[in-house]
Amino acid sequence: MTLRKYVVGNWKMHGVSSHIEEIRAIATGAAAFPQVDVALCLPATLIHRAVEAVPGLPIGAQDLHFLPRGAQTGCVGAEMLVDAGASVTIVGHSERRDRERSAEVRAKAETAQAHGLDVIVCVGESQEAHDAGETLETVCRLSRKSLPERIGRTNLTLSYEPVWAIGSGMTPTSDEIAEVCSAMRQLLNDRYGEKAQSVRILYGGSVNARNAASIFAIPHVDGALVGGASLKAADFLPIVEAAATAG
Ligand code: PGA
Repeated sequence: MTLRKYVVGNWKMHGVSSHIEEIRAIATGAAAFPQVDVALCLPATLIHRAVEAVPGLPIGAQDLHFLPRGAQTGCVGAEMLVDAGASVTIVGHSERRDRERSAEVRAKAETAQAHGLDVIVCVGESQEAHDAGETLETVCRLSRKSLPERIGRTNLTLSYEPVWAIGSGMTPTSDEIAEVCSAMRQLLNDRYGEKAQSVRILYGGSVNARNAASIFAIPHVDGALVGGASLKAADFLPIVEAAATAG
């Protein structure tokens, strides 16, 4: 089954109000490819402003607390994200996983779902696990532990993010990505049955305008989570276009 391609920008700790124009350029450019779902996951401080500036583009968060509110200094809860206008959130990104275990990632995913947010769950193997030939085992273990119990009424997405490929300019071979994403698809089917058909699988890690088309051509890859190349419309929109062309 072919799912609509999904291209998500993760701005990480980048973006202040002067970047709203760039976000506008991304939204305007992305609107030319209605066959692709596009979202931008921004720093929490920019979400509200971006939602007001580009009402047609789904704006998301990069993390949330597993409690919706409470005495958690410095954290952002699901209620706040929804209040700011976010419609999606990333959970379990490897740049946060040194501070959280998979059980916490799963709790975050379930809290987000309960508040009506779409969820993108990230999993990926370290350089050491990759070198030791433990990629599949690691990715499957993390997926099993981090995915929410149910799919729920919001969109669920699973993103394969090899830790060593993030921000490094390196990517796995197409065969490696295909093998992992095929195992993920099987795992989703086993876990959620029929409903797994709605779950998209993304690849993330050094996706750019040059490699996007070949990544989107890999079986079981339904889109991409893009870090560095999502910061500028000129870099990001060719990736969206590649997704549109891939169908
Ligand atoms: P990158 O980041 O595209 O800069 O490698 C990807 C990610 O962290 O999701």
